[in-house]
Amino acid sequence: MENLDRLRSRIDQIDREMAELFRSRMEVVGQIGAYKAAHCLPIADPLREAEMATRELGGTGGEINGLYGIFQRDVMELSKQYQAMLRRPENALGLDLACGSCDVVMERGCLCRADELMDLRRRVLIVTDEGVPVQYVQAIADRCAAPRILTLADSERCKTLQTISSLLEAMLDHGLTRQDCVVAVGGGAVCDLAGFAASIYERGIDHYNVPTTLLAQLDASVGGKTGVNFGGVKNAVGTFSQPCRVLIDPQVLETLPDRQMASGLAEALKVGVTLDPELFALFEQGEPLRSLDEIIRRAVAQKARVVSADERESGLRRVMNFGHTIGHAIESTHPELLHGECVALGMLPMCGESVRHRLAPIYEKLQLPTCCAVDTEQAAERIAHDKKRVGAEILVVEAPEIGQYVIRPMSLDDLKQRINCIAEGGVTP
Ligand SMILES: NC(=O)c1ccc[n+]([C@@H]2O[C@H](COP(=O)([O-])OP(=O)(O)OC[C@H]3O[C@@H](n4cnc5c(N)ncnc54)[C@H](O)[C@@H]3O)[C@@H](O)[C@H]2O)c1
Ligand SMILES: [Zn+2]
Repeated sequence: MENLDRLRSRIDQIDREMAELFRSRMEVVGQIGAYKAAHCLPIADPLREAEMATRELGGTGGEINGLYGIFQRDVMELSKQYQAMLRRPENALGLDLACGSCDVVMERGCLCRADELMDLRRRVLIVTDEGVPVQYVQAIADRCAAPRILTLADSERCKTLQTISSLLEAMLDHGLTRQDCVVAVGGGAVCDLAGFAASIYERGIDHYNVPTTLLAQLDASVGGKTGVNFGGVKNAVGTFSQPCRVLIDPQVLETLPDRQMASGLAEALKVGVTLDPELFALFEQGEPLRSLDEIIRRAVAQKARVVSADERESGLRRVMNFGHTIGHAIESTHPELLHGECVALGMLPMCGESVRHRLAPIYEKLQLPTCCAVDTEQAAERIAHDKKRVGAEILVVEAPEIGQYVIRPMSLDDLKQRINCIAEGGVTP
């Protein structure tokens, strides 16, 4: 026992020395980061990383050398994260995640500073769709050294593997290498597609999101989920891949139709109901469109907090699916409805009585639907394929009170009853 204590105190001493060495190393990393920033060099340097990854301890056995390789990679990852943190503008909201760091810059007019906020001195594939006003795309393209623009016809209908294939072809054709990047300029569908393609091209290259719908600004562009619809199931195939940075310019929402605005506000309302009573108050007490910037900021801050705590959705992040189990089922059978409208419908049967009562005037104010002629059997069939299924039950999120949530498994029969309520207008308070 005495021996163990002695060994442990030696470990403590070594850890103290390593902490000191770590501090010195990070100081130098910071100086390297400042040099790279001043000379517009990217943080990642694959050649240097490859060289460092082959370093060996020397002398000792194979196992320790193997572990040292892992240690070396982790230290390099932390060094890149630290350099990204140092480059983060003062007003940026940071997400520091296991697989790297990402931040969100929200600033009116920031599109005109795109070249200061993104590393565009390389080959860039800009992905957008026909509905995105061309001036936003041009604002980015004008600030790129070597841009290529790929404009999709209708991004939601294009959320397929075929489109991913055409994006990958465009990337190859434009000669993109691991040092180049993809920039999504558009709504959630464009961000999901561009992020997915970038995350698998050459096993993953840099991508940025420049969301231009409210829904994409306060939800879809943040958090690193990418993907496409498959086999009739929403977002059935995709990856977790963090964008290097998200640029939110609320000014671009001036061209967004009212219905799209309401759809985005529904996602912010979802956050208010489950996590943030002050955000909910902005909807209940005021005119949401007058507090738009504050609503975006609060919704993004909550999402960043949740994603930082649970990037891969094994716990807390599930709260973001509030309204989505039934919402996605409606969305895949009712293409005429917008994503946020489906989420709004999906939230109603998952709320406590008093919450539903308080939501009614807000839905009216935002002109969000409260019922829909949904085919319950068909919707249940879609839910059976839900990614959140655990055995025969589906993990759902309920909101008993404002600012509260419960995540629990629910049977398909119970869910069917709740869908029936939407079909019959039975949840309208
Ligand atoms: N990855 C995630 O975490 C996540 C989260 C939520 C939603 N999503 C996905 O996001 C998608 C919905 O996103 P959305 O609501 O942004 O829809 P969307 O991407 O289909 O865009 C809606 C429409 O608005 C147009 N548009 C975009 N910006 C505009 C502007 N500034 N002015 C005028 N028109 C503009 C687009 O061309 C499009 O026609 C869904 O596919 C959903 O699955 C993903
Ligand atoms: Zn959503």
